[in-house]
Amino acid sequence: MSNATLNNWTPSSWRKKQVLQQPTYPDQDKLQDAVSRLGQLPPLVTSWEIESLKDQLAEAARGKAFLLQAGDCSESLDDCEPDALVRNLKVLMQMSFVLIYGSLSKVIRVGRIAGQYAKPRSNDKETRDGLTLDVYRGDLVNRSPFTEGDRIPDPELLLRGYERAALTLNFIRGLTAGGFADMHHPENWDLDFASDSPRADQYHEMVNSITSSLRFMEAVMGASIRQSDSVEVFTSHEALHLEYEQAQTRRVPRRDGWYNMSTHLPWLGYRTRDVNGAHVEYLKGICNPVGIKVGPKFDPDELVNLIKVLNPNSEPGRITLIHRYGADEVADKLPIIIDAVQTAELDVLHCCDPMHGNTFSTKTGIKTRSFDKISSELESQFKIHESKGTILGGVHLELTGDNVTECIGGVGNLGEPDLERAYKSAVDPRLNYEQAMEMAFSIADHMKSKRND
Ligand code: PEP
Ligand code: CO
Repeated sequence: MSNATLNNWTPSSWRKKQVLQQPTYPDQDKLQDAVSRLGQLPPLVTSWEIESLKDQLAEAARGKAFLLQAGDCSESLDDCEPDALVRNLKVLMQMSFVLIYGSLSKVIRVGRIAGQYAKPRSNDKETRDGLTLDVYRGDLVNRSPFTEGDRIPDPELLLRGYERAALTLNFIRGLTAGGFADMHHPENWDLDFASDSPRADQYHEMVNSITSSLRFMEAVMGASIRQSDSVEVFTSHEALHLEYEQAQTRRVPRRDGWYNMSTHLPWLGYRTRDVNGAHVEYLKGICNPVGIKVGPKFDPDELVNLIKVLNPNSEPGRITLIHRYGADEVADKLPIIIDAVQTAELDVLHCCDPMHGNTFSTKTGIKTRSFDKISSELESQFKIHESKGTILGGVHLELTGDNVTECIGGVGNLGEPDLERAYKSAVDPRLNYEQAMEMAFSIADHMKSKRND
């Protein structure tokens, strides 16, 4: 049985299941009207791209490529402007360059972008100074300022989110198709404010060496190396808001099955992982590759069962496990999960999310993460896979090309007092440019040392 022919599955069969983490809209007619307009609009991605990503993720699972999945915790509608998008794309390009240099293998670039507008939350309500309002669930649902008007879920935001996703994707596609992404001109991706960052010299030396090699090869071959002037960037977001996902779920000509056309790689969040719940029901029937966030409370049998439900035919590239235990729990939890997956002979890509298990609040109530803990979890995940002879084939990071101060530590040695200075995230704290590059260099070092073993 393929995903395409699951009995009794339809894009709306999730409605018969328990559905967590959805907003309560005050007016159901307005919601249905917005959803039906969304369902008429063109897809954002194509089934060719989705299938190509699935093939590439299958390669990463075999150690032939490396997945770099990164971007905002939560995109905001206001940040859909050229400078912010270019900065984020530049970081993704620079990091992927560093990883290619370290791994000498293909890097699959996937942004948390063009649709990462809905957030799971621990509570439905938030109270401040005696006033209780709906919690902020991301710009696809409501707005973050603490006023009654902003917090009421507004179905029109589903359309605003889709439109911003389309504008974002259009700009990314234009930039990456040529010119900007040309490997002969990596100076296009330099960020002005970062020229004196500690890693800048190392980065530029590496870039010079790559571009000289490229030009040397081209001189020898007497032709330009194909595809070195364009790159692929795929999109991903948490498949959380099921009305939004359903409205963009379509059949395509000449292929079996259903595709979620709002993104290449939807993922199942940690809070909505119940195998009998609505989110799993929805993801079960689509042909896209699917990520699963795996955290410390995941029972190994529960995970094995979930993977079988989501990938009944063991299709390569279909499942990416995004492991996020936290630096203090990873050594206890990850080995058991790897063993369970191996014993059940399941074909998955293992990817490390060192962000979501390492969030804490400062004494003054600011949500942050420490660079040391993030590095430590990543390091542990690399080592655990090495000791088991399995492959860590990707990373999943929350970061921005903006010069924010949201995570402490790293090259700039940010401390808790620095967090007040440039904290912009409405949800989780992100690595800033310098911290992200530091992370890329340390991942590349791991890969290099593995190559030299
Ligand atoms: C996220 O990726 O922003 C997120 C909420 O992650 P998780 O489901 O792993 O907590
Ligand atoms: Co997050």
